[in-house]
Amino acid sequence: MRLRDVLVRMLRSRGVDSISTNIERILESEDVLQMMAVWIANGKASVCEGHRGVAFDLSGRRIERAKTFVGKCENPILNRDDLLKEVEKEFFPYIVIDCSFYDKLIEKEKRKLRFQIFQTLGLVRKFMWDERLIVTALDCGVGVYYPSTAQFVKEKGLSNVVLLDPFGEEVFNGQKADCYIIGGIVDKVGNKRGWTSKIGEMLRREGVEFKSVRILLRGDIIGVPDRLNTIAEIVLRVVLDGEDVESAIRNVQSRLVARWRLRKELPKLTVRVDVNGRPFRIVRKSEFDKFDWLNLERSDFYEVCSELGYIVLDDSTFEEIVKNAEWDEKKRRFVLNV
Ligand SMILES: C[S@@+](CC[C@H](N)C(=O)[O-])C[C@H]1O[C@@H](n2cnc3c(N)ncnc32)[C@H](O)[C@@H]1O
Repeated sequence: MRLRDVLVRMLRSRGVDSISTNIERILESEDVLQMMAVWIANGKASVCEGHRGVAFDLSGRRIERAKTFVGKCENPILNRDDLLKEVEKEFFPYIVIDCSFYDKLIEKEKRKLRFQIFQTLGLVRKFMWDERLIVTALDCGVGVYYPSTAQFVKEKGLSNVVLLDPFGEEVFNGQKADCYIIGGIVDKVGNKRGWTSKIGEMLRREGVEFKSVRILLRGDIIGVPDRLNTIAEIVLRVVLDGEDVESAIRNVQSRLVARWRLRKELPKLTVRVDVNGRPFRIVRKSEFDKFDWLNLERSDFYEVCSELGYIVLDDSTFEEIVKNAEWDEKKRRFVLNV
């Protein structure tokens, strides 16, 4: 469930079946009803009687006129307090970005981190509203600032806390939590392996109990995008939309990240053949179809094969070569003399 679904439910229960607005920033959004809900939850608008601007039904389809509008008025029929009260009945976690290592990043990484935090706010707004994004140890003007994650967890009295850590003890399978902590870390220079676990050590020292959870794609972190906004999106797609982890990863995965994983998978599918003494590695064209769990185009498959020096063959040609070649057990490859 996203915030929009709570708003729609409340409107339906009040007999409202259409809504409009003339707020440009809402109308520009891909999901107008969600953005209306965000504006209301952020206290910037309410639901009022009457029509203004562009009208929608409660599935988000454009219609001619509406009986209500999102904006400002004297006597709203639904405001922030009403919405937030209803929201308490549902599951909406906090996304916490812990920037304890901000000072250890180089200037370029700091810039990228601030941009990723900004993008995470955009992502949080697709599912929830601004107050669900907490940024700790860095007051960058985005999200709700707390000096430390421990202080936030203690002040809110949260007991079910998850630290998202590529080296976490558990594997992510949709575990629900009051808050998901993401390390405010950007890996551009140097070796920052294990820094998220250090955030965990700091939390433990401060008396915060948590589960550390790693997101894996078919048993491996390669192929899991590691930008903060993509990590948050994977988690929210799974825990709020009910998507399975693999589809959520595929849906946020860039082709660049998908290719990293392909590079790791491809060698297992190749066959070595010495043709007239020259070594080759061949791969069936149809192997591409096995990678529907990665966000790849066929051209990515050909490019990665060519980069790795593999020859892509029609399946029939591949079978013909293997049929006519002899298996050399010592060299663990086929030998073909033509
Ligand atoms: C760029 S990663 C930094 C990882 C860091 N180099 C390390 O080894 O801990 C930024 C953040 O994204 C989250 N993250 C990235 N990949 C993850 C994965 N596969 N599972 C869980 N969390 C992940 C973590 O919270 C991490 O702190």
